[in-house]
This record gives sequence, C-alpha cells and structure tokens, in this order.
Amino acid sequence: MTLRSFRICLLPGDGIGPEITAEAVKVMAAIAAAADVRFEFHEALLGGIAIDHTGSPLPAGTLAEAHAADAVLLAAIGGPKWDTTDPSKPRPEQGLLGIRKELGLYANLRPVRIFAPLADASSLKAEVLAGVDMLIVRELTGGLYFGARAREDGVAGSATGGGAGRRAYDTMEYREYEIERIARTAFEAARGRKKRLHSVDKANVLESSRLWREVVHEVARDYPDVELIDQLVDNTAMQLVRNPAQFDVMVTENMFGDILSDEASMLTGSLGMLASASLGDGTALYEPSHGSAPDIAGLGVANPLAMLLSVELMFRHSLAMSDAADALAASIASVLDEGYRTRDIADAGTAADMLVGTAEMGDLVVAHL
Ligand code: IPM
Ligand code: MG
Repeated sequence: MTLRSFRICLLPGDGIGPEITAEAVKVMAAIAAAADVRFEFHEALLGGIAIDHTGSPLPAGTLAEAHAADAVLLAAIGGPKWDTTDPSKPRPEQGLLGIRKELGLYANLRPVRIFAPLADASSLKAEVLAGVDMLIVRELTGGLYFGARAREDGVAGSATGGGAGRRAYDTMEYREYEIERIARTAFEAARGRKKRLHSVDKANVLESSRLWREVVHEVARDYPDVELIDQLVDNTAMQLVRNPAQFDVMVTENMFGDILSDEASMLTGSLGMLASASLGDGTALYEPSHGSAPDIAGLGVANPLAMLLSVELMFRHSLAMSDAADALAASIASVLDEGYRTRDIADAGTAADMLVGTAEMGDLVVAHL
C-alpha cells in the first residue's frame, strides 16, 4: 500500500486557537499511524496574531500556504486586544473574511448533531431535541458581509428632522450565480440526506431575498425528489427552538446563516460542539463555528471537540478518509458516553473527576480511537 501524504495548512489564530489546534494535531498524528497516511503540517499566521507580527490580518505568505495545501484547518481569530471601531485600523475578522473570499469558499456547511449524552447540556428540553440532525448551508462569500459599505462624516440632516451627523451603511447584494451555486450545494446535500430543504430568506421585505427565492425555485426543478420549503428568517429563528427536528438541510444568506447557526449550536449544548466546512472551487477550509473565547484563553479548559469534529469533516470532504472520519466520530461519541466533559458541556450531575481540560479531552479521544 502506498503511503498517502497530505499537506495541511494550520491557522491557530488567537485566543484558545493554539490550544485546540494542538489537540487536532495530536489526534491527527495518532490517526496517521493507523490509517497509513502522512500529514505534513504548515503553520501560518491569521487574525490578531498576524496583525501583531506583520501588520496585516491576512499576510500574503498565509494565503500562499493555504493555496498550496490539501486542506486548511483554522481554529479561531479575534479578541479584545484588536477590537476597534476605527475603520482605518486592521481587524482580525478581515483575515477570516479575506481568506474565505480569496479561496472562493462560498459554501459553509455547519452540521448540527445532538450527541445523546449531551441532551441535558442544552438549554432546551430533551424532548424538543429528539430527532434533531440538521445541516446548515450558509452562503459565505456574498451578501451583507461583502456588499458595499461606507461611513461618512458631517452628513446633512434629513427633511423630516434629525440633525447633521455621521452616516454608515452596509449593502446586501446577491447575483444570480451566487444564489444558484449555493442552492445546488444545498439540494445535493439534501439528496444525500432526508431530502427536505428549507430555504431561509426575508422575501416579504428584501429585494435580494426575492431574487434568492426565485433562483432557488428555478434550481429546484432539477431536484424534484427534494421537498423545498420557503421560510422567513424571523420565523426560522423561532422554529429552531420550537421544533428543531423539522429541519434536514437549511440554506441561507451569509448574515442570516451566521446568526441562525449560533442559535442552532445551542441545541447541541454548546457552541464548542459545532464544526464547519467551507467549500468552494479551490482548497477547502475547516473551522469550528465558535470564536476565540479570549476570556478562557490559555487556561487549558477550552472544549476541543468542535475542532476535532472539523477534522472529521476534513477527512470526509477533502482527504477521502471516511474510515478515519467514522473512527474519530465514534471515539468522540464514546468519550462523551463515558461521561467526560469540558466545562462548557458539564452540568450539575458531572462528577469532579469527569470534568476535563483541553489536553485531557484530546488524550481521551486518542485513547478511544
Ligand atoms: C463565524 C464567525 C465569523 C463570521 C466572525 C468571526 C467574522 O462568527 O464564522 O460564524 O461572522 O462569519
Ligand atoms: Mg458566527
């Protein structure tokens, strides 16, 4: 058997990023030995740490490493150190949005799976969570995040009153091809699952949503086997906590998807359990959906599971290692079954000796492989 070798670009970023990246590397090294593959890790700077070292949140060298890799594994970026409302200052988030755009990663897949032993960690009742297994397909390189934006000073007051002052705007814009390709991604995903697709928009108010709805219905003609349901975004926010099991695949605009996926993560008990895959035309990128959690950075208590579940997605979507992906998922499930918890997913019933830190959780996952 020939040894397959994969080049992995690691972007640990800020906050808890380096800690959870270390666990991903640990677990991947353990899997490499058993799966007869070799991982070549190339670490690069992104986000706040990149600003500190180079002045830019997305240095050219990082982009080159990402393009050269078979897959990119990103942990988290951002923190209060770099928070500013001054538009002339670089922000860590520009690095993240920039790399998504530069790699053409228009489709962000966020699977929301309930691990049975964690049902009590959710703020929702266990019976509401029964049967929840959904995939959020978030458009990632368009919409409100990338439309024209500006700020002006000293704008005259309006005719209807209101004084002179500052003005700012962001634009939600979609082109037909952007909607069409994300719709196709979502229909294809639904075809491989329970064949139900919710397309989430605000077509009762927004023109971009009306185009979204039209194009999604045009694409639907190629997928007669998939049931398509239009749902307004405010209703979706409500349905997610009322009856989350109704969803199979959900497809939506960038900003709506950002908000709804944080909401959906609470079904799983913690944002620390939500992985994501960003796919497009080139190298794919895998990252937990959570942020850099600066409040617990360096304490060794962060939950590495969303990062490890992102590795699972990488094995499946980029490296054709579905056996290793299954093994990793099974290992995480058994560690949770046995009752081990990081503090974000612990509850009153968690015994002190079952409460583990970041590195211990990684060790447990390795031990159960
Ligand atoms: C996410 C994050 C990012 C986003 C931030 C950090 C820019 O919230 O991946 O969901 O809004 O896309
Ligand atoms: Mg978000």
